[in-house]
Amino acid sequence: MAPTNKQWVSKLDGVAKLEMVEGEMPVPKDGEVLVKIHAVGINYRDIEVCEGKYSHHQTPSDSPSGVVICSDMCGTVLETKSPLLRAGTRVMSVYLQTHLSGALRQSDLESGLGFPLPGVLAEFRCFDARALVPVPEYLTDEEASCLPIAGVTAWMALNWMRPIGKAFQKLDLYGQGGKRDDDDDDGDEDKKKKEKEKETVLLQGTGGVSIAGLQIAKAAGLRTIITSSSDEKLEQAKKLGADHTVNYRTYWEWQDQVLEATGGKGADYVLEVGGAKTLRKSFASVAFGGTISCIGYVSGKEDDTGDDKGEAAGWNRLNVNVLALRRNVTLKGLINGGKDRFEEMVRFYEDKGIRPVVCKVFGMGEGREALEYVKGGKHFGKVVVRVDKE
Ligand SMILES: NC(=O)c1ccc[n+]([C@@H]2O[C@H](COP(=O)([O-])OP(=O)(O)OC[C@H]3O[C@@H](n4cnc5c(N)ncnc54)[C@H](OP(=O)(O)O)[C@@H]3O)[C@@H](O)[C@H]2O)c1
Repeated sequence: MAPTNKQWVSKLDGVAKLEMVEGEMPVPKDGEVLVKIHAVGINYRDIEVCEGKYSHHQTPSDSPSGVVICSDMCGTVLETKSPLLRAGTRVMSVYLQTHLSGALRQSDLESGLGFPLPGVLAEFRCFDARALVPVPEYLTDEEASCLPIAGVTAWMALNWMRPIGKAFQKLDLYGQGGKRDDDDDDGDEDKKKKEKEKETVLLQGTGGVSIAGLQIAKAAGLRTIITSSSDEKLEQAKKLGADHTVNYRTYWEWQDQVLEATGGKGADYVLEVGGAKTLRKSFASVAFGGTISCIGYVSGKEDDTGDDKGEAAGWNRLNVNVLALRRNVTLKGLINGGKDRFEEMVRFYEDKGIRPVVCKVFGMGEGREALEYVKGGKHFGKVVVRVDKE
């Protein structure tokens, strides 16, 4: 009997209707490699795909009506038809398979794994050898499978404005080699001043992107503020080095806490994953000249109507133009990052010894449960499916 390839398929009709089916064993073409998949990291996007709600990007008119789900995997090259990768190499997938370097092009969206292209929640898959990144030795398969979307997106939110290879380096905005007049002090006073002037990152919730952002920001020596609906999760975030924590249920107006924690200055980088119910507050929390990276919409895609408990009247009209202008803010729509930035990030992870936070691991037979778990929002960091385990 021919070997088969178990895979989780969605007809875009809900997580509950996900099915594990047996497909044919894929065969690599020239330039491709056959990968045995070990671990798959689940993203919020995978749930949206299953529910037929992944519609805010312009995707091809011939988008599939059913797809093998998920985009983030770690596996081993079994067979190679490319000089780029040897059999036995452990690799991670690049989410948008054609986004190999430079700026994202609209056509790259057609190469998204797990929609519109077949995804990675399968035992085997062939990939273009160029669209894979070798895994650093120190990471487990499960840890590595957390990086393609969550890690790279957080990395880009903190570094998109810097050229590749210059991550976290001060920008030469003042034409003085990045130095400002007030950079010249020395001694204890200078140290105190520098500590006070450390850039601050605001992270919303404790999901995949935010926890990756927390780990990267801490390793880069930035100050971090993180919000969550759960005090228990905030305690976990403190153990990862979060400097300030805010429960956004207890403090509905959490922007006040952010301003207090930063002496009124606000956060230099906001990783905006909340969307409808958080953007107004992100504008109220951001520092003069800061950046809000528009990443996600876990609180909704429609503008906030202001109906929620504690929401002040009049908060339902979001004049983005004036809000951005008021504090000279950069509002950046951000879609993941290219392979070149992924590799840059991996070098940083390796250098700093960062280990992605894996909250729970499911077996291959539990694909549906894994997605339900993420949908339920109980997780902290990432949820992973171990493909080569039932
Ligand atoms: N643009 C991109 O390239 C890109 C890449 C990755 C993800 N995304 C998007 O970014 C979002 C997050 O993705 P993810 O994979 O990190 O999701 P995730 O792991 O499911 O995490 C979502 C977390 O958001 C928090 N949350 C829920 N409602 C919130 C609210 N009203 N205010 C603040 N936080 C809230 C919850 O944290 P607590 O339980 O701690 O409250 C929840 O665990 C999604 O919309 C996803 O589609 C976009």
